[in-house]
Formats: sequence, C-alpha cells, structure tokens
Amino acid sequence: MDRKNYIRKLNARFEGVAPQEVLRYFLAEFGERVALSSSLGLEDQVLTDMICAVDAKARIFTLDTGRLFPETYSLIDKTNMRYGIRIELFFPDHTLVEKMTSTKGVNLFYESIEQRRECCRVRKLEPLGRAFKGLDAWICGLRREQSVTRRDMQTVEWDEGNALIKVNPLIDWTEEQLRDYIKTNNVPYNVLHDKGFPSIGCQPCTRAVAQGEDVRAGRWWWEAPEHKECGLHARN
Ligand code: ADX
Ligand code: SF4
Repeated sequence: MDRKNYIRKLNARFEGVAPQEVLRYFLAEFGERVALSSSLGLEDQVLTDMICAVDAKARIFTLDTGRLFPETYSLIDKTNMRYGIRIELFFPDHTLVEKMTSTKGVNLFYESIEQRRECCRVRKLEPLGRAFKGLDAWICGLRREQSVTRRDMQTVEWDEGNALIKVNPLIDWTEEQLRDYIKTNNVPYNVLHDKGFPSIGCQPCTRAVAQGEDVRAGRWWWEAPEHKECGLHARN
C-alpha cells in the first residue's frame, strides 16, 4: 500500500475513535519507533497520562529550549515522579546558541520575524532533529481549535519535512474536554494555566491573556496570527 493510502486508511479507521485507542494502536505497532513530543502543555499532559496507562516505558521527550518558565521545569519533575518515568530532554547546541546570542542579542526574537524564527530554529528545530533519531512516527498535542494554522489538520498525517508519520490523537478535542480529563484523572498540570496562560511556550515569548482573548493570543503576541508557528509544525 502506498503511503498516501496508508494514511487515508488510518484516518478512516480512527474517525470518531477515542484518543486512547489511537495511542494504543501506535504504541503497539511502532514500539520504540514512536514518541510523544511534549511541551508539558495541557494536551501533552493528557497524552502522557493516556500513554503511561498503556506503557510507562513509551518514549516521551521535551525540547528544553533553555528559556522555559520555572513552572514548566517544576512540572517536568512532578510528571516524572507521578508516572515513574524520565522525560527525555533535548537541549540546544551550545555553539549555535552562543553564536546567535553573541551576534544578535539574547532577546533577538523581538527584533523581527526572521530573528524569532532563527531562535526557534536553534533552540527547537535543531534539537528536534536529534530527538527524531530512530523514530518512524511522532505524537503531538495539536488541536484544530487552537489556531487558524491548524484548522485542516488530521489525526494522522505524513510529515514531509521530517519524513515521519505524525499523530495528533486530540485533534478534535475542545479545551473543555481537556480540562475535564485533567480534573477527573488528577493529571499534573502547569500552575500557570490557572494564572491566565492557556498556551505556554518559552517565557520571553508567552504572556497571559485577558478573558475572551484567543487562547494563543499570548504566544509571540507581537506577531500576526498567521505567523504564529515556530516551525515545529510546518505544513507539507
Ligand atoms: S508551538 O509550535 O506553538 O510551540 P504548541 O505550544 O501549540 O506549539 O504545541 C503544539 C505541540 O507541539 C505540542 O502538543 C507538542 O506536541 C509540540 N511541542 C511544542 N513545544 C514543544 C517542546 N518544547 N518540546 C516538545 N514538543 C513540543
Ligand atoms: Fe526562542 Fe521564543 Fe522561539 Fe523560544 S519561542 S525558541 S525563546 S523565539
């Protein structure tokens, strides 16, 4: 079966199916060749809880950009303790960071979209490339509701740029479903979510949002909505 057909068949099979079943399928089929890419956001905490219920040895990694909130670092420890796991951490290449910050400043991202993308490239994309070693598929917490850039995403996609299968088990979930799951299952979450931060990335690029504001309004708030992607989820 060609790849396009394979992805289409999987999406048909997972239509209306619970995320736990999607995860169970990929963990069984791919074993160590699939991993959850976790930002420690609500979605990824839900996925971590679901994954650990199936296989606590499954691979979960985080890109530690070096600029995360202290609350996010605390949550890494808390999550490891709760599930008896070790989230793998991928740190940026120090020579690339030194070169970038020495020439363009430590807060270069506020100067232009190009410089913001360069910082994301150095602090996220280069480490992500290393995290992908040995993988055939990666699991993400993307939801259609999150942004205009994510409206037409599918549960299973072919990630052309990374030559991997990309799995989005929560693609159809609403924020209310997420919060219900977290509460019912007592899943550890970032304390910043209770302080006006619905979406959390790096500290200098995330601010709290006011009630009624878009959930991603606090991410790279100085940029237009159509630019608000760090390159992790570039479309084919
Ligand atoms: S971003 O592109 O705007 O930063 P967002 O915060 O919405 O992404 O997260 C979407 C998904 O991207 C997460 O559910 C997770 O799968 C992945 N992701 C984002 N940031 C990281 C990170 N620092 N480490 C690992 N995965 C991440
Ligand atoms: Fe750099 Fe901001 Fe991107 Fe983090 S989100 S890698 S600090 S530009």
